[in-house]
Amino acid sequence: MRAAILSLLAGVGLVSAHFKVEYPAWRGDTLADNTTYDQWDYPCGGVPYGAGNKTDWPIQGGAVSLDLHHPWSYVYINLGLGENATNFNISLTPELLNVTGKGTFCIPALPVPATIADGQSASLQIVTNGQSGSALYNCADVVLRSSAQPPADGVCTNSTGVTAAIVGQATTTSPSPTPTPTTNGVMGAFGSMSQAVVLSVVVAFTLIFV
Ligand SMILES: *[C@@H]1O[C@H](CO)[C@@H](O)[C@H](O)[C@H]1NC(C)=O
Ligand SMILES: *[C@@H]1O[C@H](CO)[C@@H](O)[C@H](O)[C@H]1NC(C)=O
Ligand SMILES: *[C@@H]1O[C@H](CO)[C@@H](O)[C@H](O)[C@H]1NC(C)=O
Ligand SMILES: *[C@@H]1O[C@H](CO)[C@@H](O)[C@H](O)[C@H]1NC(C)=O
Ligand SMILES: *[C@@H]1O[C@H](CO)[C@@H](O)[C@H](O)[C@H]1NC(C)=O
Ligand SMILES: *[C@@H]1O[C@H](CO)[C@@H](O)[C@H](O)[C@H]1NC(C)=O
Repeated sequence: MRAAILSLLAGVGLVSAHFKVEYPAWRGDTLADNTTYDQWDYPCGGVPYGAGNKTDWPIQGGAVSLDLHHPWSYVYINLGLGENATNFNISLTPELLNVTGKGTFCIPALPVPATIADGQSASLQIVTNGQSGSALYNCADVVLRSSAQPPADGVCTNSTGVTAAIVGQATTTSPSPTPTPTTNGVMGAFGSMSQAVVLSVVVAFTLIFV
């Protein structure tokens, strides 16, 4: 009985916490169940460079559109220059974003704070994390071009109810309670969906390392 509940919660956590990159094209589909990709793997969810397509992206910065599956997520976006970048040392989100709501979240023009040569290959690293504190990763490979066009109409939108705030400028900042992984705690968590998701991520993580 307990094992069944734990594995059910683990499944909920895996689906709830992962995210998709809608634009620019991600390096690989890390949500597909027929791959060994794992969004918990730094730096790019286990997707090797060269697996995906490159998108022409404006040299001064462009759109990034995500599909978020969590009640709220911290979002960081970094840029690494070169082919097969492993050092994503240009932060495009110097102020930490807390995105509330599930659905599409798109920043129309994320500025690149560096002078870059036209035609430079680079990779975007998109990192999210939520209540569990574990980070999830996806990458998208781009070519920075002055001639790059924005995405087609309708690609860069925010779903209803999806909003972002800069952490530190929020009015309330109460820390999440630490879940207690006992049988009673698991049963009690059914009363609160958000607690169930927090707990299930912890449980999923535990199962992997057992
Ligand atoms: C995984 O499945 C998707 C669609 O179901 C398919 O397009 C893709 O080619 C498959 N990938 C592998 C590695 O089998
Ligand atoms: C790359 O683009 C081609 C052509 O549009 C498409 O068939 C393929 O699925 C894309 N690859 C990935 C990893 O998205
Ligand atoms: C990219 O870099 C990684 C880490 O250095 C290396 O393991 C991998 O083989 C490289 N991939 C390509 C396509 O060069
Ligand atoms: C960023 O990483 C690249 C590649 O390792 C390196 O050449 C560059 O000096 C780094 N830039 C900064 C500002 O650390
Ligand atoms: C989505 O919301 C963020 C933050 O609220 C905002 O900066 C951004 O411009 C919005 N995107 C669109 C396409 O309106
Ligand atoms: C992020 O947003 C969520 C939901 O709106 C909120 O519960 C949480 O306290 C926020 N975190 C910070 C650090 O502002």
